[in-house]
Amino acid sequence: MKGLHPMKKNKKTAEVLCMFLFLLLLAGTAGASEIYDFNQGWMFFKSDSQIAPKDYKEHKSIWAGAKAATADAVWPFASFEFDDKDFRPLNLPHDWAVESDFDPEENGEQGYHKRGWGYYRKRFFVPSTWKGKHVELQFGGIATHSTFWVNQTLFHHNYSGYNTITLDITPMLMYGHDNLIAIEVNASVFEGWWYEGAGIYRDVKLIVSDPVRIASEGGILVKPEVKIDGWNVNGHVVLINGGPSELSPSVDVDIIDPDGKKIESKRLLPTLPPNKTVEVPYSIRIASPKTWSPDSPALYKLKVTLKGQTRTYDERSVNFGFRTYKFDFTNGFSLNGKPLKIKGVCNHQDHAGVGVAVPAAIEEFRIRKLKEMGANAYRCAHNPPSENILDLCDKYGLLVIDENRAFNSGSDWLEYLRAHIRRDRNHPSIIAWSIFNEEPLQGEYRGQELARVLVNTVKAEDPMRPVLAAMNGGFFSPDSARTVLDVIGFNYQYDQIEKFHNTYPNLPIVLTEGASAFETRGEFATDPEKLTCSSYDVEAASWGTTHRKDWEAILNHRYLAGTFVWTGFDYHGEPTPYNNKFPANSSYFGCMDLCGFPKTAFYIRQAQWLDKPVLYAIPHWNHDTNTDGKEIDVFCATNVDEVSFILNGKNLGTFKVDPVEMLTQKITYEPGTLLLLGKKGGQEVIRTQIETTGKPAGLKLVPYRAEIKADGYDALPVTVCAVDAFGRIVPDANIPVEFEITGPGRNIGVGNGDPTCTLSEKADSRPLFNGYAQLILQSVPGKTGTIEITAKSEGIKSAVCAIKAVSATRLPVIEGFIRDETSISGWRVSLPSGSKPLLLTEESPEDLQGLSNAQLGTDLILKPKDWIVFYNKFQLPADITEKGGSLCFKNMTGKATVYINGEVVFEKKGSVTKDVAIPLKKGLGTVEMNIFMQPDSKSRVLLADLVYVSPEKIKVKSDDK
Ligand code: GAL
Repeated sequence: MKGLHPMKKNKKTAEVLCMFLFLLLLAGTAGASEIYDFNQGWMFFKSDSQIAPKDYKEHKSIWAGAKAATADAVWPFASFEFDDKDFRPLNLPHDWAVESDFDPEENGEQGYHKRGWGYYRKRFFVPSTWKGKHVELQFGGIATHSTFWVNQTLFHHNYSGYNTITLDITPMLMYGHDNLIAIEVNASVFEGWWYEGAGIYRDVKLIVSDPVRIASEGGILVKPEVKIDGWNVNGHVVLINGGPSELSPSVDVDIIDPDGKKIESKRLLPTLPPNKTVEVPYSIRIASPKTWSPDSPALYKLKVTLKGQTRTYDERSVNFGFRTYKFDFTNGFSLNGKPLKIKGVCNHQDHAGVGVAVPAAIEEFRIRKLKEMGANAYRCAHNPPSENILDLCDKYGLLVIDENRAFNSGSDWLEYLRAHIRRDRNHPSIIAWSIFNEEPLQGEYRGQELARVLVNTVKAEDPMRPVLAAMNGGFFSPDSARTVLDVIGFNYQYDQIEKFHNTYPNLPIVLTEGASAFETRGEFATDPEKLTCSSYDVEAASWGTTHRKDWEAILNHRYLAGTFVWTGFDYHGEPTPYNNKFPANSSYFGCMDLCGFPKTAFYIRQAQWLDKPVLYAIPHWNHDTNTDGKEIDVFCATNVDEVSFILNGKNLGTFKVDPVEMLTQKITYEPGTLLLLGKKGGQEVIRTQIETTGKPAGLKLVPYRAEIKADGYDALPVTVCAVDAFGRIVPDANIPVEFEITGPGRNIGVGNGDPTCTLSEKADSRPLFNGYAQLILQSVPGKTGTIEITAKSEGIKSAVCAIKAVSATRLPVIEGFIRDETSISGWRVSLPSGSKPLLLTEESPEDLQGLSNAQLGTDLILKPKDWIVFYNKFQLPADITEKGGSLCFKNMTGKATVYINGEVVFEKKGSVTKDVAIPLKKGLGTVEMNIFMQPDSKSRVLLADLVYVSPEKIKVKSDDK
């Protein structure tokens, strides 16, 4: 049976009501803002060009187009009546660029995908219980320009792909009715020289609050400040009184420690004039909190509860941390009073298989990989990140440079910047704001003045943190952005750093971009024909340097705060050094490839950054017979003093490791096992070996976790590799692999880290690239059980792995109507009675007089044998009258007999909650409905969370008539 999808039951919104003789069941706390998942049930259409507005030459249409609620006269796609038969249903987040084929005619910097235009519509039901509430829609990010219509009114434009878009739609909604959000997304424009994706690629939420509330944007500011004898947590709460009378609420500000214990609390007693926003300051002393650092990221919570005399209006919390830090022009950087070198990486936001629509759990996988590499810092290049990334950096301990997108003082851009700072400023991980990256105006008067405006805008929202910019020139000119910055970010320009430091000894410096070295994972030669780059850390952009030299620069300059390596992960697009050389379509810069499989650079960084012995050697040892007897370079990424080489039992000697260059040793190749012993002070501290394997004999699947949450969002990467007859991974296997999934899981994308691969990333197959490929598995909402993934490749043994989908809580969902579904409101309900009722009809109007309005989504409590009648009379849409369709009840509880125009059309004999669909025969037109109901074992009756009609013939479940 097709799911009856719209409107999941949300008990939180239910209110305690006493109605006549019976009670309403109620759960949850009234008060705190309710946050709904708004990702589900969208309709989408992709177009190469903009859908042209209607030709509206006559007065009537142009008049309508200029009015609220009648924009359909100009933009048919934004109208309720629009025939969306060419649209397809989908759930967000969504990136249509990664879904499309690679096209050599398209822009390679954006990954050779056609972006074009996309159209999204979502029809959803707004219950009448929301009347008088405040309703906001929040879009995490839409690439790239977006235009919004709410209920046929042109409502909003947004011009960046990276800002959170918050829309107050309160007055635009129709309560107890269907509503329509239509969004046109123009992704034919771009903001970057990297892959930006296309569409509504971050989460969408709908927030329902009391009109008396804590502001959702910047509503809580937390500024922990260290004092001689402890800390003061200062800040403010922004309260909005959207009501007509003055209020004197109480505001409790609680501080909760990392163990979840409330340790301090303060009560504020502000006065809120009607229809006003008030900023209320607070200050709380905490004597000796745990400090936040990359090694020990202690996270505190600040919870604000806004209460009236009789109820809680709102409740919100934010995470924060206690730490001090300093960019220092002499010593570089220090955290909590101790010097710390910044071991940072720059990253774009996309991942293999999913483009920019990266599930939060995959973002977590990536952050953990960076920690594993030894990184302690993350630069969001070159745009505000998803909020999730910042939460993860707080949680795992990565220092963040949070970067603005546009170097522009236009009012829209300043507003995006303000909202960006307000959104992010409580995160303890953020140590600096960056206002630009490599702007051509950086060294001239205009750039200086623009930078001044942006710095002032940032400081107005956050006076605490330093502001920097990632500059690659203009450092020395008299009018330079330099003059208004707290910290100077150097992108490369290694040869200018010393001169700059000597010229401006009081300006702290950090390498906002370092290295830009190239590697293809598992390739050991640079071959412009094959579009590969050697993995020996010998290739770098002309403006950059190798990973080894980059870190040497940091070690050699005490005053340098650290480096942000370009980049932690490969990303789609910008395939330097093979720009415009199709099929090279993704970057070569990453320490890891697009899937997060480590390249040599990963181990070099481990050797530089981890405080433990590291020894990793390349190449693999599967060379063909032509290599036998020839000398090959063995490179060791290591931080030991010396390495002993033992080939097939023969000791080849012990070789000294250079602290910067590490160790490259020529070895005469013979197949077998090369054993490497890493030594410090003459003692072996680590060993590794590389060995010749056999041919692939089977596949192996390695899921990142054994469990997945069945919330429809949780995801995990599954690694597939080939193994030989002895179970050893075959590092040079490049064989096709096909995937099959059974159980409650789905494949949302595949990758293999090959920057030249032009196979679709949305596929059930992926060849291994130098040993590895990856599948991204996602759960299905509400479906638990065992997911089995099978990987097959012809002629070798298949692999199977199992992942358990376990139940998980989800945000309540506001689902959307698909295509021609129409909700049916206006239900009325009788008093309960002990005997079977009589049919109600308009022909005896006096019978209808005792009815009251029925609230969908609210359980009624009856006596066990009581009867109750729901009544409605409505006109079916023309297409259903003509061809028939279905009448659908989402979540019906109790026994029911359904009458249409006096005839029984359906009987629900069982009383458990289920979706019900009843066929509507053609020719019905107007229907008069009676539904006689009796309660379930818990005395509950629920007509439905939602009733709607659909032109589709939805099958009735077999246990019902
Ligand atoms: C920098 C730029 C980055 C990236 C990098 C590649 O100049 O800021 O976005 O393009 O070069 O080396």
